[in-house]
Amino acid sequence: MEKTLKKAALAAGQLIQDNIGKAVQISTKSSVNDLVTEVDKACERLVTEIILNAYPDHQVIGEEYGLSQKVSDYQWIIDPIDGTVNFAHGIPLCCVSIGLAFKGEVIMGAVYNPMMKELFFASEGHGAFLNDQRIFVSQKKQFETAVLVTGIVSAIGRNEKSLPVFDRLMTGGRPVRCIGSAALSLAWVACGRFDGYFEYGLNPWDVAAGKIILEEAGGRFTDFSSQKNDVLGIETLATNGFIHQSLGDLIRSKS
Ligand code: IPD
Ligand code: CA
Repeated sequence: MEKTLKKAALAAGQLIQDNIGKAVQISTKSSVNDLVTEVDKACERLVTEIILNAYPDHQVIGEEYGLSQKVSDYQWIIDPIDGTVNFAHGIPLCCVSIGLAFKGEVIMGAVYNPMMKELFFASEGHGAFLNDQRIFVSQKKQFETAVLVTGIVSAIGRNEKSLPVFDRLMTGGRPVRCIGSAALSLAWVACGRFDGYFEYGLNPWDVAAGKIILEEAGGRFTDFSSQKNDVLGIETLATNGFIHQSLGDLIRSKS
């Protein structure tokens, strides 16, 4: 399954790289800034074809085409392009993200940014890798100097929870970044570039692969209360583990 996962990620990555910065057909989904391009759809079709050719009895779920018909304990969770707004504007911060779940638990994942030639991969119990090099979360313990990342969504009514937190963090003088891709944000916490990530309102395909990559790199993935640990929740708190409690407390505090 590792071979199929990497093959699908690399193939979709090639499509992304061939088309970024080019005039591609763009449509809108739930709002004027919720975009889908013809390349998102082509990538999802390609990834689905590669997976179902190898494992015809497995189920796939993707951001653009939804659930396939077959019901299976194995479910491949596909975000054909995470960071579609970046992609559509030629900003080379986007990726394909594919997670594989068994009985609802993510057991393998790949996040590939072809512009940076960075393939993040992890499988349960075997560690996380960036281009075949083991990766680990940062060792930062001091929350005051942690470098954080979040997502601010261009959709009305989806930032009420995030913006006050963003404000509290900035007021506290902390560096907070928005790179426009949930999957890359998680992978970058996994390899120690960021110390922590939080976002409200994500979908399973945004986080499935990044979750296992982060956990296998030694990090922690939960909801804002540090209770739930699945990819179905809409609260994502993902850190190096050391600052998890502090970031969770700050998110939940009112001032
Ligand atoms: C989006 C990105 C973005 C996050 C949004 C996601 P998409 O996914 O991950 O960083 O803030 O919530 O919807 O639409 O580019 O696949
Ligand atoms: Ca996405």
